[in-house]
Amino acid sequence: MAEYDAIADEYAASKQLPWRLHVEQPTLFGLIGDVRGKSVLDLACGDGIYARTLADRGATRVHGVDLSAGMIELARRAEAARSRGITYSVCDASDVRGLEGFDVVMAAYLFNYAQDRAQLRRMAESAFRSLRPGGRLCGVNDNPRTAPARYRYYPEFSFVRYIEKPQREGSAITWAIQPPTGEPCMFDNFWIAPETYREVFEQVGFTEFRFVDAHVAPGADPAPFSDFLEDCPICGISAVRPADS
Ligand SMILES: C[S@@+](CC[C@H](N)C(=O)[O-])C[C@H]1O[C@@H](n2cnc3c(N)ncnc32)[C@H](O)[C@@H]1O
Repeated sequence: MAEYDAIADEYAASKQLPWRLHVEQPTLFGLIGDVRGKSVLDLACGDGIYARTLADRGATRVHGVDLSAGMIELARRAEAARSRGITYSVCDASDVRGLEGFDVVMAAYLFNYAQDRAQLRRMAESAFRSLRPGGRLCGVNDNPRTAPARYRYYPEFSFVRYIEKPQREGSAITWAIQPPTGEPCMFDNFWIAPETYREVFEQVGFTEFRFVDAHVAPGADPAPFSDFLEDCPICGISAVRPADS
């Protein structure tokens, strides 16, 4: 059973926390930009929350992929309740085949599941294969640039985030999030060094790979999130499949 099968409802509830709405979303959707008329592959789509957002914003072809049958079940239920034309498959994002030509690959918290360089590379290769030449990879991620002291309890933001010591590639990063309602949800991400990310994405053929500091929406007041935004636990991630590749 995939880890998220057991926490699908709790995870979905955590998406209502203010830092999700006012930092995670502006960071992710700021990177993705205007999707009207575009095709989007959502790698590690979870319950499809952001696939639905992109379909609602005018993306014409949206497909979501997730390892967790429980998460895909929630996504399909939402599609059945209100059809947006989104399709889904249960699939390991390290080995996506036959889903090609997308303008955008979105990866919201996928790469932080790689437990070593080889797995990160397979995930990046899947993303590269699925993009059309000139297409863009955009996502959010557990921030691998975090200073050791910043793995801690965030009382104002209803979560703890700790890292296994000694810190080395593959160290588990344990998150425990208390959603506004219901039971807490716990899951592990894994730490891979920022330089390894840069090297792997370059080796796979991506250009313009970068980590992007998380932020609130343009014009919004960042003050309520100041402790969250300082050396923020999450970051944006972005790269391009070159037009001549
Ligand atoms: C933190 S959730 C994010 C879900 C969604 N992108 C969102 O932002 O709400 C991480 C998701 O990654 C999925 N996942 C983890 N490893 C994966 C893999 N190798 N292939 C596909 N999905 C994976 C989990 O099942 C889970 O649904």
